[in-house]
Amino acid sequence: MSEQPIIYMNGDFVPLSEAKISILDQGFLLGDGVFDVVSAWKGSLYKLDAHIERFFQSLQAAMLNTSMSHDDWRAAIIETVRRNELQDATIRFIVTRGVSTKVVADPRDFEPTIIIWPAPYIFLADEQKRAEGIRLFISHLRAFTPDSLDPRYKCLDRLHFQLAKIEALDAGCDDVVWLTQGGHVGEGPASNLFIARGGKLFTPGDGILHGITRQAFMEIAAEAGIECIEANLTPFDLYSADELFTCSTAGGALAVREIAGRKIQGPVPGPITQKLDRLYWEKRESGTDGTPLY
Ligand SMILES: Cc1ncc(COP(=O)(O)O)c(C=O)c1O
Repeated sequence: MSEQPIIYMNGDFVPLSEAKISILDQGFLLGDGVFDVVSAWKGSLYKLDAHIERFFQSLQAAMLNTSMSHDDWRAAIIETVRRNELQDATIRFIVTRGVSTKVVADPRDFEPTIIIWPAPYIFLADEQKRAEGIRLFISHLRAFTPDSLDPRYKCLDRLHFQLAKIEALDAGCDDVVWLTQGGHVGEGPASNLFIARGGKLFTPGDGILHGITRQAFMEIAAEAGIECIEANLTPFDLYSADELFTCSTAGGALAVREIAGRKIQGPVPGPITQKLDRLYWEKRESGTDGTPLY
């Protein structure tokens, strides 16, 4: 990797120390912007088009327009990672509503700020926790509703995610999930959730960001002949699961050994979690659904 990370900013490639936004940027002032995170492993970006498609859905819903097409984003992401000479990378791409010089500004009247920031690959948990499983907290904070801030917006406005995570860490846990307003299990600040029970998988279908990794695990489960059902789950379902795992771009499956003070019954990671995670990484390493970087 080059001495300083190279960042793509508004059409230019600049070293991190020069990649600056204005304090008048609406992304900074109001959390007004959307983003996505794709990863590369062994020189191959995984499901890049699915990430860009999800990003475009957020841009469209948030009424944020850039002059960049899907192919332009593809090319810019690939070129930014190449310039950083990374093989295993986590790449965050962001559009904010940008800058206005007026104090009370018309939100329709902005030039968006565009950023692509690649970093070495990030795992949500260290090696020991990946091997032994994590302790998961259930937050008292609830998910936004679809008629307020639909969880499908992958947006910068994440204060409540941060609070939920801080409370979980303060309680001695590793990560957090929250419930929807209806009391069903939602998701965590950077991951979706699956349970295994009686040889079947269950995962929440509503009130969540539809994770690309969640989709990958559903596909892998189908290929492995494991039925996966999108269902309204309650905390009781988590407590009584045979296996429980979170999943995200930051590391694939992460087994849970304890949920809100209850130890998961069977072995951790359980056999289904282990099998699906192994197949996930095999897929990634084989280049399936991958975009080679070099
Ligand atoms: C709220 C939320 N849920 C789920 C996920 C997992 O999505 P993915 O599998 O695309 O990383 C993320 C990723 O950052 C997220 O922010």
